[in-house]
Amino acid sequence: MSYSELLSPIKSFLKCDTPDKWIEQAKKPENLPVILRDHLACELKAGQTALFLIRKYAVDKESGKALIEWLEPYEDFLYRKQGDLHSLAKKNNLSKSIQPKKNSPYGKDLIDKMVLLIKEELHHFYQVLEIMVERDIPFDGITAGRYAKGMMKNVKTHEPDALIDKLIIGAYIEARSCERFAKLAPHLDDELCKFYVSLLRSEARHYQDYLALAQKIAGKDITERITFFGQIEAELISTPDTDFKFHSGVPLIV
Ligand SMILES: [Fe+2]
Ligand SMILES: [Fe+2]
Repeated sequence: MSYSELLSPIKSFLKCDTPDKWIEQAKKPENLPVILRDHLACELKAGQTALFLIRKYAVDKESGKALIEWLEPYEDFLYRKQGDLHSLAKKNNLSKSIQPKKNSPYGKDLIDKMVLLIKEELHHFYQVLEIMVERDIPFDGITAGRYAKGMMKNVKTHEPDALIDKLIIGAYIEARSCERFAKLAPHLDDELCKFYVSLLRSEARHYQDYLALAQKIAGKDITERITFFGQIEAELISTPDTDFKFHSGVPLIV
């Protein structure tokens, strides 16, 4: 599949393109550290979100524990400054096979897709960190922007609607990441351009997996809900934002 074939469903799913003003900022060499630091944190966040979803909805207790242990070294690095590229090199392994909860209505499909997604996000995390180390860009913390929160605050409070909303939001975050990687890549140096293009395929699949799961779990038409979150997402992307991050809105340059 060519990149334009890969991107065209994403572009029609998203209600707006990344504004050129964001690209202008993101391509400035002085902003590369913030982009990479935030990208690193986003990869872990993506893994954590998937882990949260399957722990809460789909897997048994023991499996939940194994999943937490799997992510721990990455969290130690990001939040507690423990470990380094070298110690993380051999850490992307799940210690046991993941089993569904008894009577879980969500079962294996959700688990398999999310476990693969976590594995890929942790691999991306490692790849981003490798680039940062190579370029002497330290990880010195990053705060969360308004983007994910802006969507999450609209999640319904009852099930299964809450899960469906979270899966739709997951689809939007993945789709936006994919669109941004593609739009930013040609403005970056060769190594980063290649890396960002290499991420497109898995992020495009992640968006489709989230959406397909939402659809399947809902068992009814969810177009209206998708449109609802699509509008919120587009607003967060196309309105002025004082913060500059990987998923921020139109940069307000002071
Ligand atoms: Fe990723
Ligand atoms: Fe992803």
